[in-house]
Amino acid sequence: MIPKNQIFAAPMAGISDKPFRTMVRMFAPDLPMVTEMISCHSLTMQHKNCLRNFDNYADEGNIGAQIFGAAPRLMADAAMMLQDAGAAWIDINMGCPVPKVATRAGAGAFLMRNHKLAGEIINAVVRAVQIPVSIKTRLGWDDSHKDWQNLIHIAADNGAKFAVLHGRTRAAGYVGSATHPEIKDMPIPIIANGDIKSSLDVQNMLHLGYDGAMMGRAMLGRPWIFGRVLGIANVPQDMVTVVTRHLELMIEYYGEKTAVSMFRKHLAWYSAGMPNSADFRTKINQLTDVSAIKQEILQFWGCVANI
Ligand SMILES: Cc1cc2nc3c(=O)[nH]c(=O)nc-3n(C[C@H](O)[C@H](O)[C@H](O)COP(=O)(O)O)c2cc1C
Repeated sequence: MIPKNQIFAAPMAGISDKPFRTMVRMFAPDLPMVTEMISCHSLTMQHKNCLRNFDNYADEGNIGAQIFGAAPRLMADAAMMLQDAGAAWIDINMGCPVPKVATRAGAGAFLMRNHKLAGEIINAVVRAVQIPVSIKTRLGWDDSHKDWQNLIHIAADNGAKFAVLHGRTRAAGYVGSATHPEIKDMPIPIIANGDIKSSLDVQNMLHLGYDGAMMGRAMLGRPWIFGRVLGIANVPQDMVTVVTRHLELMIEYYGEKTAVSMFRKHLAWYSAGMPNSADFRTKINQLTDVSAIKQEILQFWGCVANI
């Protein structure tokens, strides 16, 4: 299922939506990417307020659709719907620490506390679809319960084809450095995740026995990073075209009003660390008119490029 040394783009709620995935693919067309997590309840009920419930993946190539939930039957139904929508594989979220998912829904990271239910969910999903199934999990619930190896064995026994391991516990959330245990004698390939930012980091993971690496936050404001790490793209010179294209894709997908407010965070990431970026963000946050925003983008990157 996964060739050795594969690099993946991580699922990130509120970020790795269809417009962002299109941006990443401009620089790394064949990259395996994972969607934002999709609630099995919201998907099977086709909730209208969640656009991603209606995504079509047929034109997206190597894409894993990530689902979360705690009900095996609904998870299986959701997986079938995503298979029909063209997903290349299904990823099951077993690591999300946010209370809405892990505590109230008993899903995501909570499944690290209930390996029996985790196994039932994997089994139901694997039996429902013909495409491969993976899990994405963490080292464990907290420092006293780092039982990821057990969960990986359960995943493999129930037919998962690979697993992504985020090198933190649920208790750690996203704080502190990720630690990546050495991989030995695992029944399925393991992809490393957590604080991976460069080709050197990827190489280090491969030396530790991982079959590949997944990058998340390193892609914020840098959709070209995968192309760079793979050695097939450079940092773009023409940032005005890149940033404007992203904005246009967001408008096509969400409509102007929602896109403009959602795009502000991307603009903050694109401009982070650049001269006058704080002023730029202040200005952008006050604008709602698309042509005025485009004008600011032109001025900011046009000027920066001339420095
Ligand atoms: C804003 C945000 C949203 C995330 N959304 C998801 C998600 O939908 N599904 C998931 O499995 N992990 C999600 N994650 C976790 C990331 O996929 C990844 O495991 C984590 O950020 C560690 O990798 P990194 O250090 O490369 O960012 C999210 C993380 C952040 C910061």
